[in-house]
Amino acid sequence: MFDSDDDSPQLSAQALAALQEFYLEQQQKETSVVDKFSVGAIEEDWQLSQFWYSKETAERLAKEVISAAGKGGKIACISAPSIYQKLKELQNEDFSAFVLEYDRRFSVYGDEFVFYDYKNPLNLPEHFEPNSFDIVIADPPYLSEECLSKTAQTVKFLTKGKILLCTGAVMEEQAAKLLGLRVCKFIPKHNRSLANEFRCYVNYESSLDS
Ligand SMILES: C[S@@+](CC[C@H](N)C(=O)[O-])C[C@H]1O[C@@H](n2cnc3c(N)ncnc32)[C@H](O)[C@@H]1O
Repeated sequence: MFDSDDDSPQLSAQALAALQEFYLEQQQKETSVVDKFSVGAIEEDWQLSQFWYSKETAERLAKEVISAAGKGGKIACISAPSIYQKLKELQNEDFSAFVLEYDRRFSVYGDEFVFYDYKNPLNLPEHFEPNSFDIVIADPPYLSEECLSKTAQTVKFLTKGKILLCTGAVMEEQAAKLLGLRVCKFIPKHNRSLANEFRCYVNYESSLDS
């Protein structure tokens, strides 16, 4: 390995080249893992009512659901792929997460992607047992009672109790009626400015409320 006749050890040109190649491969692997899960890695498609959270909001909400899920907790992200991506970026934590999404581009996330159409709210994989998720976070695509009431069926089926909903401020009454949720002080932000005001709603003691 060493080919110098002075006292300081040195690598041979061959070993040095192999080492450089190894570091380059490691760097490429790390970059692709980070890119794959970064918020915005998959571009917004406005036809699908996709408006991604700002990085700060995605991080705040991801940390909130990790804390609410508890150690080893199970998290369902319904129509909220940025939260799933941020959770994966923070994967040093002890939890498991699934992304339920209509946009099949998110199938790059393998077994943790589940195709989901709110119009068939209980068409879910067999391995999704009733009331098996420690927290469910949802951000339905449309600000309508029809969309929220169908999404609410999925949320109620999956959750053990805790729910975090992000949707328009205009949905406050429906969120309370359908899911027993109250509005939080925290105001979610998006990458682009939207015509509608957005809010978060919860049914448990949450840091989003302080
Ligand atoms: C308002 S966006 C919420 C995204 C969230 N702000 C984020 O950054 O992750 C609505 C989401 O619903 C998804 N969606 C569109 N049509 C849907 C459908 N029929 N059923 C379920 N989800 C749908 C979109 O792909 C999008 O991810």
